[in-house]
Amino acid sequence: MSKLIYVLNGPNLNLLGKRQPHIYGHETMADVEAACRAEAAQHGLDVRFHQSNREYEIIDWIHEARETASGIVINPAAFTHTSVAILDALNTFDHPIIEVHISNVHKREAFRHHSYVSTVASGVIAGFGTQGYTLAIQRLARLIAAG
Ligand code: DQA
Repeated sequence: MSKLIYVLNGPNLNLLGKRQPHIYGHETMADVEAACRAEAAQHGLDVRFHQSNREYEIIDWIHEARETASGIVINPAAFTHTSVAILDALNTFDHPIIEVHISNVHKREAFRHHSYVSTVASGVIAGFGTQGYTLAIQRLARLIAAG
């Protein structure tokens, strides 16, 4: 079993910390990456951490993860609500997937209430701020260990 997990982030999350901090907080993607690496290390897992504003790059990383990884944490950002292509890519991945949203999408506009990705995710974390990423890794570690 591979000890590698992918943490994938969608559009505009490169601006985390600067973008609508009243919604997304003050931590940056670099802070999130460091926290993910520290959490994963506690579980003996390695991390490939990526962010992109381009749908095809996220799809390509999911395809790469098919060959190399035991789990995916994904915050698809706005692609959550629009992308059948990312859903189709995730449907080719045979290991656990945890969907993360920093904000509580259910408290926000109606268009954020639907997620294509939730139909394939083992679990969904929303509204826990950036802590949601480390909680997602904890859960993924448990699922990976359980086989
Ligand atoms: C988000 C929620 C999405 O609706 C939004 O488009 C994002 C970020 C979140 O982390 O709360 O860009 O995925």
